[in-house]
Amino acid sequence: MKKILFAASECVPFIKTGGLADVVGSLPKYFNKEEYDVRVIMPKYLCIKESLRSQMKYVTHFYTDFYWRTQYVGVLEMEYEGVHFYFVDSEFYFGGPWPYGNMYEDIEKFCFFSKAVLSILPLIGFKPDIIHCHDWHTGMIPCMIKETHNNDSRYNAIRFVYTIHNLAFQGNFGPEMLDSCLGLPYYLLDNGNVRFDGGISFMKSGILYSDKITTVSPTYSQEILTSQYGEHLEAVLNMRKYDLWGIVNGIDIELWNPKTDPEIPYHFDKVNIKSEKLKNKLALQKELGLDENKDVMLVGCVSRLTWQKGFYLLMEQLDALCAAPIQLVILGSGEKQIEQKFRELENGNKGKICFYQGYNESLAHRIYAASDLFLMPSLFEPCGLSQLCSLRYGT
Ligand code: ADP
Ligand code: GLC
Repeated sequence: MKKILFAASECVPFIKTGGLADVVGSLPKYFNKEEYDVRVIMPKYLCIKESLRSQMKYVTHFYTDFYWRTQYVGVLEMEYEGVHFYFVDSEFYFGGPWPYGNMYEDIEKFCFFSKAVLSILPLIGFKPDIIHCHDWHTGMIPCMIKETHNNDSRYNAIRFVYTIHNLAFQGNFGPEMLDSCLGLPYYLLDNGNVRFDGGISFMKSGILYSDKITTVSPTYSQEILTSQYGEHLEAVLNMRKYDLWGIVNGIDIELWNPKTDPEIPYHFDKVNIKSEKLKNKLALQKELGLDENKDVMLVGCVSRLTWQKGFYLLMEQLDALCAAPIQLVILGSGEKQIEQKFRELENGNKGKICFYQGYNESLAHRIYAASDLFLMPSLFEPCGLSQLCSLRYGT
């Protein structure tokens, strides 16, 4: 049986800020359990809901020297829908009200997480054949193992897959942290292996030290080889292009299922989609204070409100959008400028436009189910799951 350990910063149902969590949460479930034992390791954030945290079981703990302090590292585990999860516990690093978001603090947080993963491996009775790292947060793990545990039989047979979900976020930090946080030698800076723009890059390191690299669609695997989308790493990616694969994401078709979804008022499948989708639309119009009108085209949008998602492009067309005979519901949060614009738009168009500022998993399901059309104006999109969820709900 092949043993695979996913290492990631977020995962459904525990914590989610975007599509990364959807993929890390759903992919392990769909491996053939007779051939693969796929487990996941992630931080135990204090902001994971209590109903899930209370199900985690203590495995062990130890203390480690990290930066200039000695830090507690706890290990917990839990089985969820047939998948085994491990959690790294540190209230010092993972005790905040949200999982991450401030790059300066995040670097130290994920240096700590990477170091903890290495130390935990010999303690959990699970020796992975492959560690599958996701995005910049875990990009240092292959380098740390290959550079510092090369002669250690507990580690040196492990192979690495690195998935780039979004090349725009790279985890770049100052050279001084190489030794103090990661315990890595300075020659890695001199020989260029981890050096990027005078500092160190988690992303570059993941690309160079992993055995195989994947990204989340075949299109994106080609785009990132160009200067337009390569985020200054195109030369490094071109060096590794024979080990780079684009594998398109899927969604969890059990979680996103209009026939059984507990978050939507009217269930449907391909037989009754017309009548029941309409009922969902009327219910959402009522819930959000939009004019209740079955004939108007309802346009939905569920997104992080950032430049990447193309909202500045959309803003150039707002007058045309408001003049069109449609209703628009936007669920999202992010850059203040975009939020402010949508707030003004709603105020000037009550009953026609609704801006729900925030993150709301339950409402997202009802928007996918009720909308006639989904709006996704991304400037670039490594894969995108929102359009797949929309398709699943006939939108
Ligand atoms: P990205 O990961 O770049 O944000 P994806 O399309 O891959 O884009 O995934 C976004 C995921 O996050 C989808 O599952 C979407 O429903 C969810 N999502 C985004 N914004 C919100 C929000 N404000 N409330 C609830 N879910 C959201
Ligand atoms: C990233 C990308 C998005 C992709 C998601 C999951 O957040 O921006 O396009 O769908 O990761 O792979």
